[in-house]
Amino acid sequence: MKNSQNKSNRFVDKKVLITGAAGGIGKSLVKFFREEGAIVAATDIKLSKINVEAYFEGDLMNTSFCDNLPQKVEEKIGGLDIVCNNAGIITRGKITETTDEDYSLTMGINVEAPFRITRASIPLMKKGGAIINTSSCWGLRPGPNHPLYIMSKAALASLTQTLGRDHAPDGIRINAVCPNEVDTPMLRTGFKERGLDPLTAIESLNKSVPLGRIATPDDIAKVILFLASDEASYMCGSLVEVNGGKPVI
Ligand SMILES: NC(=O)c1ccc[n+]([C@@H]2O[C@H](COP(=O)([O-])OP(=O)(O)OC[C@H]3O[C@@H](n4cnc5c(N)ncnc54)[C@H](O)[C@@H]3O)[C@@H](O)[C@H]2O)c1
Repeated sequence: MKNSQNKSNRFVDKKVLITGAAGGIGKSLVKFFREEGAIVAATDIKLSKINVEAYFEGDLMNTSFCDNLPQKVEEKIGGLDIVCNNAGIITRGKITETTDEDYSLTMGINVEAPFRITRASIPLMKKGGAIINTSSCWGLRPGPNHPLYIMSKAALASLTQTLGRDHAPDGIRINAVCPNEVDTPMLRTGFKERGLDPLTAIESLNKSVPLGRIATPDDIAKVILFLASDEASYMCGSLVEVNGGKPVI
């Protein structure tokens, strides 16, 4: 009985699609949605064994994979109520250090994939559906030296705002979460690339946050679940910053 120990059952029998399900925030999303009774379809470029009702391994750079995914999910798990466009990559470096491939990958995974998945999902979703995009606080206010990532997350934030308005009359709420630093593989690989010890780097980042620590994946997933739930029933096109009190500097 997967729900027996839960305090909350907000998503009983809700059909949920989660992209980037094998990543830091994605794993927390899978765990929390399932704990609250959801039927979860997980997708990632590579999925190691996780407990979900349906797996769809695939590359979000593959446009037909994105276009067809919502329909396949609907057929496999019997509906589509909630979509979490959570997958993303971070591309580092000043514009002069970036390549054409960096541009295509960043815009393809962070913008075009959620665009395509959302476009194909909305016609399948009923009134009461919700789409939650994972943008970034850098999509709201740019930080230094990540122009491609920042541009892509700003595009996703803007898409969220416009779709939030356009599809409110359909009863589909579209919102985004905008985290600051989260302790996931995405953050840790950046330290490794710069030759920094991840533990020391995280300790020093923790000191830069007014709340005293960077976010855990669970901190962010909890806000995504809130946005997906009826508790957020009046939220459409909101960009919710989750930052422990740390502004973009
Ligand atoms: N970690 C942070 O500090 C932070 C801050 C703000 C926003 N975010 C955003 O949170 C989201 C989740 O990231 P995370 O921190 O859990 O990182 P993560 O790297 O752990 O997870 C990202 C997931 O996306 C998947 N993915 C990447 N490219 C893909 C592709 N071509 N096809 C299919 N799947 C692909 C990866 O395999 C990975 O499992 C991302 O959109 C990220 O931009 C993260």
